[in-house]
Amino acid sequence: MTRAMIREWDKASSKRCLWGGRVGREKITVVGAGNVGGTTAQRLAETGCYDVVLLDIVDGVPQGKGLDLAQSCTLVGSDAHVEGTGDYKATTGSSVVIITSGVPRKPGMSREQLLATNAKIVKDVVQQAVAVSPKAILLVVTNPLDVMTYVAYKVSKFPRERVIGMAGALDAARLRAFVAAELRVSVENVQAMVLGGHGDSMVPLMRYTTVAGVPLSEWLPKDRIDALVKRTQDGGAEIVSLLKTGSAYYAPSASIVSMVEAILKDSHKILPCATLCRGEYGVDQLFVGVPVKLGRRGVEEVVQLKLTSEEQAALMKSAAGVRELCSLVDGMI
Ligand code: NAI
Ligand code: 2OP
Repeated sequence: MTRAMIREWDKASSKRCLWGGRVGREKITVVGAGNVGGTTAQRLAETGCYDVVLLDIVDGVPQGKGLDLAQSCTLVGSDAHVEGTGDYKATTGSSVVIITSGVPRKPGMSREQLLATNAKIVKDVVQQAVAVSPKAILLVVTNPLDVMTYVAYKVSKFPRERVIGMAGALDAARLRAFVAAELRVSVENVQAMVLGGHGDSMVPLMRYTTVAGVPLSEWLPKDRIDALVKRTQDGGAEIVSLLKTGSAYYAPSASIVSMVEAILKDSHKILPCATLCRGEYGVDQLFVGVPVKLGRRGVEEVVQLKLTSEEQAALMKSAAGVRELCSLVDGMI
């Protein structure tokens, strides 16, 4: 099958989608037309499977990027409708609303230092977005990720299935990239799972990291594995320190699109995502990264892996950090 044939097939299957009585491409809104939002909108529009609304508070930026993107679609053979706007009316009836609006990290800044500013932004965005897309699935990206996902959940009053945070997919992708480079194997051979909050305390599960189905411990000595774990935990900061004026966006936008595709194609793909745990993994009433099955309803199921006592303790430590920030943000929303 050629690429063009695959695109045609994908377009045809997206046309069969029914959402709120509408037949055709589903609408995806990306809030925040910065680095992550802009590249996410581009990746989505280029699939030709979705109509994309790019929204930002800065007048002219979403309009300009939207127009540029719409013109690029002619060159990549996409019939997606792309619109850049500052008006939530254009986002009405979105199937997925991706929230990337907020301030990114600067060198030396932790994700947590973004808390107050971004909580206010996410609250405002969620209120306006859900008013016109009450059936949407909210995909939160803004940092500090787990806490901002909690803010979106509280403000939207949506069921837990429809409020999901993107981080684990990115952290696992980074780990996969490091392992593939270290062993000089295809990234497709590498599977990885990263749990916990999106911060330095994230928990890469090395027992569940495999190369061609074989545990990583069979491929590498412990000191090399430990170095890959550390590099994954510092993966965001490594890029911030190189860029100096912002944070990563190519891998984040690719991670967002992998989640959107799993949801809208109802694939039931298992990815680590920030979801509201209700007792799973011993974590209650808290958004934290755990493996979930993603499908058309959003979070279809939290997948329970067996953890060693060491892994469980690391997850609880990471969750405790998220809980502390959630209690701080409660007074702000
Ligand atoms: P950016 O600064 O390039 O873009 C942010 C955009 O949000 C700007 O265009 C800004 O005008 C817009 N914005 C601010 N307030 C708004 C509002 N009230 N309504 C609509 N738009 C508004 O930042 P970038 O690099 O795109 O990062 C965005 C966020 O995503 C940051 O918080 C960053 O830390 C986070 N991030 C999270 C990742 C994750 O794994 N969860 C990965 C990468 C980034
Ligand atoms: C990252 O991990 C900054 O959270 C963002 O790249």
